[in-house]
Amino acid sequence: MAKVWQTALVSLTICLSSLLCLVEATQDKFIVEGKVYCDTCRVEFETKLSEPIKGAFVNLECRNRTDGKSISHTQDVVTDETGVYKIEVEGDHEEEICEVSLIKSPRDDCNDPTELWRKSRVVLTSSDGVNGPHRFANNLGFMKRELLPECTQVLTEMGYYELEEEVGHSITP
Ligand SMILES: *[C@@H]1O[C@H](CO)[C@@H](O)[C@H](O)[C@H]1NC(C)=O
Repeated sequence: MAKVWQTALVSLTICLSSLLCLVEATQDKFIVEGKVYCDTCRVEFETKLSEPIKGAFVNLECRNRTDGKSISHTQDVVTDETGVYKIEVEGDHEEEICEVSLIKSPRDDCNDPTELWRKSRVVLTSSDGVNGPHRFANNLGFMKRELLPECTQVLTEMGYYELEEEVGHSITP
């Protein structure tokens, strides 16, 4: 019994002398969360017409920051009925570039890969000052093959066409 207490006391002393002890203990494992949408207006950002996709496949890959070579990737993970996925990752990846990628869409009418909405970078290290194991990735999405008729209305409300026009004017005076 005395031995057990002694061990506990030593551990406690080590932990108190270094606050990192706690952080390291809880963060050698991360849970990456994000959401996959069907981009029903083919604009590569979220609108109120975007639909969460259930059954989409994503995975997470970490690459060497210097030479870009793949170091590890997880198995494919599937989104639930709200389009949300969770990927568990072991270890600290401070020296690596980690990204969640869209792999496959279950919808034949919405499987067009997007350029902007295809990958999302996540920082997986306990030294970034974020507490806890959860890390949130930006939304990802596939484009619908044919955009919904309501898109014109919704994009007008969002000021999308005005913006497009403004950009157009500044480019061609
Ligand atoms: C990353 O690549 C560089 C250059 O090839 C190499 O020196 C380094 O050991 C690699 N790091 C890891 C973690 O593989």
